[in-house]
Amino acid sequence: MEKEFYEDLCKKALKAREMSYCPYSDFAVGAALASDDGSVYTGCNIENAAFTPGNCAERTAFFKAVSEGKRKFLAIAIAGGRKGAKVPLDECPPCGVCRQVMMEFCDPKTFEIVLARSEHDYRICLLGDLLPLGFGPGNIS
Ligand code: THU
Repeated sequence: MEKEFYEDLCKKALKAREMSYCPYSDFAVGAALASDDGSVYTGCNIENAAFTPGNCAERTAFFKAVSEGKRKFLAIAIAGGRKGAKVPLDECPPCGVCRQVMMEFCDPKTFEIVLARSEHDYRICLLGDLLPLGFGPGNIS
């Protein structure tokens, strides 16, 4: 994909990060998920006083998209760091649960995970490299 595609996705992830509800960890994360039809779904982490009901930014984005009928995705940008931290942030790699959710809907050989430090500073990884030998829908068909 073009540089503009990744920069736009990083920008949207950084913007979504501003919506993070993270009073317990003070760690704010935003994500922007690109569907194959050109639409982008954003998400933030949403914590909870009971702790376990909290949701990561990546899964918020996925669940928003899937709940609106999207099933095919190209890439997700993730931006995370201490609440109020300025760019460039440190990289925020997705947790194992989020990698597994990605595995349900994305081809591990092509789906790109963009670790955003700023709009212009990012690293692109493949889902298959971050979740080697992942268990997916093909394994139970
Ligand atoms: N978190 C995310 O939203 N995405 C990640 O990739 C890593 C962690 C959230 C979960 C929790 O609300 C906070 O960051 C601290 O772990």
